[in-house]
Amino acid sequence: MGRVDLDAFSRLLTDEGQALLASLHDYDPGQELAVATRLRRSHDAGLVTAALAQARLRQRAVAKFGAEDAARMYFTPNGVEQATRASVAAYRAGRFADGLGVRSLADLCCGIGGDAIALARAGVRVLAVDRDPLTCAVAEANARALGLDSLIEVRRAEVADVDVTGYDAVFVDPARRGGKGRVFDPEAYSPPLSWAVGAARLTRCAALKVAPGIPHEAVPEGAEAEWVSDGGDVKEAVLWFGSGATDGAVRATLLPGPRSLAGRGLPDPEPGPVGRYLYEPDGAVIRAHLVAEVAEELGGRLIDPTIAYVTADEPGSSPFATGYEITDVLPFHVKKLRALLREREVGVVTVKKRGSAVEPEELRKKLKLSGPQACTVFLTRVAGAPSMLLGHPLR
Ligand SMILES: C[S@@+](CC[C@H](N)C(=O)[O-])C[C@H]1O[C@@H](n2cnc3c(N)ncnc32)[C@H](O)[C@@H]1O
Repeated sequence: MGRVDLDAFSRLLTDEGQALLASLHDYDPGQELAVATRLRRSHDAGLVTAALAQARLRQRAVAKFGAEDAARMYFTPNGVEQATRASVAAYRAGRFADGLGVRSLADLCCGIGGDAIALARAGVRVLAVDRDPLTCAVAEANARALGLDSLIEVRRAEVADVDVTGYDAVFVDPARRGGKGRVFDPEAYSPPLSWAVGAARLTRCAALKVAPGIPHEAVPEGAEAEWVSDGGDVKEAVLWFGSGATDGAVRATLLPGPRSLAGRGLPDPEPGPVGRYLYEPDGAVIRAHLVAEVAEELGGRLIDPTIAYVTADEPGSSPFATGYEITDVLPFHVKKLRALLREREVGVVTVKKRGSAVEPEELRKKLKLSGPQACTVFLTRVAGAPSMLLGHPLR
């Protein structure tokens, strides 16, 4: 199977394959059958199948790589799924190149090259290693297609067999998918986290990408942990080692920006009554356990000791939280909510929830909304009690 895939991919790089791919630049997947039938009249069926599959993957990759790069790059289904999105890879590459002065780096688990490409664009010479032959062929084709092949050397190898001495830095982005989907235990990553930590200690500095759900207790000694979100969605956690990384430090970084919030080890803020304003910290802030830092910035308190909503009496602003003005604080009650929204002619509701088991879609059906007004409804707990808070985003 691997050999067949590799042969099919190599044929895409021939003149005939390239012409076919170019002709599929903005094809409509809804027309795939008709397109395939037409192309098979003048091309080999295997090549047509490979080109159509690649065209589909390119369309899927636009969200991560942008239209311009995605149209020039190559992918495998796993490769596009597992690749670091360009914005996040570029931020990390900048931290390596500009922040840490890294000029050469071993990317141990390069996949189709999401990180290697960003690093090369930041001027770093990259040894890109992967054990899968097709993935390596795709990474190599990507380096060439983007004019970065003078900076990226792709090597097919087991990461454990690679000598990283002579490189300024190591980066490891282990595979986190097993046969049964996502892998949560860092020791079940490929390679396991403990191996990656050993590799990270071999160069002047290093970064390991891990799942954002990694428990803080699992962050290894000597590492700094950074949680990264993009457009409000938490994308990853990164463990930094060596120069520039402070043992035990935590940080939340929000993209675009970047805007970074460093932990100061503040104790959890005291809970208190819901004030006129409510702030929802970014997911990276919550994962990094930095809600106290944001609460301090806003002069706020928690609405409940276990819930990451900050409340304040005066308006404030923080790049690390979204603010709302609260108009009502009530015990959770569907009929009461329906009556209130009807009375206020609310037809559009944004449901936010934290610490509530209510399904927003189920609730929405029961509300039977109609009217020209909009409202944000928070389903949460206030001082332990299931509650609903109504309000509007602050401008
Ligand atoms: C999460 S992906 C890397 C994605 C990459 N950072 C990107 O942005 O495109 C992990 C890769 O590690 C490779 N891999 C897993 N275990 C490996 C090992 N022991 N040696 C070499 N490569 C390995 C897999 O083949 C897979 O392509």
